[in-house]
Amino acid sequence: MTLILGIETSCDETAAALVDDTGKIHAERVLSQTREHAPYGGIVPEIAARSHLAHLEDLVRGTFADAGCGWEAVDAIAATTGPGLIGGVIVGATFAKGAALARGLPFVSVNHLEGHALSARLSDRVPFPYLLLLVSGGHCQLLAVEDVGRYRRFGTTLDDAVGEAFDKVAKLVGLGYPGGPAIEKLARSGNAKRFDLPRPLYGRPGCDFSFAGLKTAVRQLVERTNPADEAAKADIAASFQMAVADTIADRTANAARRFVREFPAGGHLVVAGGVAANQALRMRLQRVAEDAGLAFVAPPLRLCTDNAAMIAWAGLERFARGLVSPLDTACRPRWPLEELAAAAPSHAARPTP
Ligand code: KG4
Ligand code: ZN
Repeated sequence: MTLILGIETSCDETAAALVDDTGKIHAERVLSQTREHAPYGGIVPEIAARSHLAHLEDLVRGTFADAGCGWEAVDAIAATTGPGLIGGVIVGATFAKGAALARGLPFVSVNHLEGHALSARLSDRVPFPYLLLLVSGGHCQLLAVEDVGRYRRFGTTLDDAVGEAFDKVAKLVGLGYPGGPAIEKLARSGNAKRFDLPRPLYGRPGCDFSFAGLKTAVRQLVERTNPADEAAKADIAASFQMAVADTIADRTANAARRFVREFPAGGHLVVAGGVAANQALRMRLQRVAEDAGLAFVAPPLRLCTDNAAMIAWAGLERFARGLVSPLDTACRPRWPLEELAAAAPSHAARPTP
């Protein structure tokens, strides 16, 4: 058995997990900073970095305590080295490199997006190749996942990420951060058919996304609405969520047709990232998959939002292929998945004392 410690600090969750190569999560802890950022209505990078620094060591200690083992049980340490808020990324990656050096363990650099992309293999053992819809606060992409480190991008957002759109709309209707779960909850009591909002790129060929026009339409709608009208707010939330689901389903259906054509061996549509927690979206994607003859896989909610189990798992997949990283691996604020292939040939470096 191979056991890897995974560390995630690229956004506003400080997370650690111990996962083995059978997919068993021995222990995992996630500490959300939501309350620290709430007064500012969004994530403040400097606060995030300091908070990761203040809590990471205790969190790792607690994760070991939960698993009932110590460093001697670990075979390698994996950490997110990007993309993300660079101050936080550096905190987690430097902690992991320092621990690797001190314990004489291999270090595995993990791209946060690859963590999301491979999470369905941790939860459901999905075989390569598969079609991936990655929807989070910073990303909105459709990709063919051919193998570890091998991604073919079908489409991406031309402006906002979908999670960002949820967060901005939540702010407009007076809900707190993060906006996605709050909008989903409010939408449950709303009438999704009351407001006819735009569905950018709907019906057009290709797999790209756009949400800026939809967000602007919501802003104009909110400006025309009485702020005390709670029912109208719920209707706006529901109408917005429906417009997003329609758009994503349309773009994903195009991608599914292309995927089936280009990858006849593939059989799955996988959704990942924080927005994959949205139940309305999941139901729509289920239908898109069925129509294309693909099986639909959505990892459990706790594996969709940021967590360290997915980082440990991506680390395990890389480690199994001999892809370990040197201790001078740089942290990157921007790091598209397609650039992983170029960097793939491994440095089989072990930390030198
Ligand atoms: O993957 P994630 O945890 O962090 C990033 O790497 O971005 O995604 C966070 C994003 C936020 O924008 C949040 O509002 C959104 O995912 N989100 C949701 C839901 N839960 C989280 N969006 C829609 N519906 C949800 N239930
Ligand atoms: Zn994420």
